[in-house]
This record gives sequence, C-alpha cells and structure tokens, in this order.
Amino acid sequence: MSIVGTLKRLVKKTMEASSQDWEHVERVYKLSTMIAKNEGADVELCQVGALLHDIGLVIGEPHNLTGRGRAKVLLRGMSYPSAKIDSVLRMVEHHGLSGRDKLESIEEKIVWDADKLDSIGAIGIARAFHMRGQTGLMFHDFTWFKEDTMIRFERLNTDTAKEIGKLRIEYMALFFENLKNEIAMV
Ligand SMILES: [Fe+2]
Ligand SMILES: [Fe+2]
Repeated sequence: MSIVGTLKRLVKKTMEASSQDWEHVERVYKLSTMIAKNEGADVELCQVGALLHDIGLVIGEPHNLTGRGRAKVLLRGMSYPSAKIDSVLRMVEHHGLSGRDKLESIEEKIVWDADKLDSIGAIGIARAFHMRGQTGLMFHDFTWFKEDTMIRFERLNTDTAKEIGKLRIEYMALFFENLKNEIAMV
C-alpha cells in the first residue's frame, strides 16, 4: 500500500473517536489534493501533510507541537525521505493562523490554505451554529465570526484557494445578510 493509503487508514483509526475531527481532516485532505493538482504541486506531499496536520488533537494541546512530534516518529518509521519529513513537520507546526509566514514551499502553503478554507462557506456557517449551540451565543453575536472568517480568507496563499474562498465568502455574506434581515422583521 502507498504511504498515503497507509497513513489514511492509520489517521482515520486514531481520530475516529472524534468523528468531527476526522471529517475535518478528510475535507482538508480532499481540498489539498485538488489544489495541489491545480497548482502543479507535489500531490503526495500535500496529502501526507493534510492527513497529519491535526494528529496532535488526539494527544493534547498545543496540538501543533504534539502533532509535530507524532508525525516525525510516524514518517521516520515509514522511511519517508527526510527532506519531505521536514516539510510535513513545518505544515503541522505552523498550520495555525500565526504560522502562515513561516511556511516555505508551495505544498506547505496549500495545506495551510485547505485547512483555512474548511472554516469558510457552508461548512463555516455550520461551525458557527455548532459553536452557538456550545456557547449560547446570540444570532447578532456572529459579527466576530464573520471578521475571523474574513481574516482567514484574506491570508490565503494560492490562487486556487483564493478562487474557492471567494465563492465561499460570497455565499456566507449572503447568508448572514438574509439572517440579519429576517431578525429585523420579527
Ligand atoms: Fe489544528
Ligand atoms: Fe485543521
């Protein structure tokens, strides 16, 4: 089995206790694959990074660092080339918003973009409502969420991600505009 196939099975098994986490990783994997093909980047490297970027969630916080450690052990055990391991470790360590400027290659930027895209659009709206359920936020408190999403959108690196992000942000803006209008009616 290819390294991607092996990792996919392993990460799914490790993360499936929290189906939400695995579903997110799977979406980031698919988006990374699509963006990598479109940008002419190393598809396999992006897939490996996408699968491992949140592996630290099952270990503990800060999950970018715990995940980096786990990824290193896993990839060395699979005899993955060391230059590629270094790149994957940067993807894992710097996948947060503040890590953006520490990324080096196009592949590292692609995985970062795919992770951010997963909080924009219909999925972003679903996540906002999930958060609302957990925190008891009022509808009109979504302003901070819209601002946070806009920051993610503005920091996207690749042209492909920017194109996808633009469509998603427009959809979100329309949704929140309708929400505001409906609230104003009652
Ligand atoms: Fe994360
Ligand atoms: Fe993530």
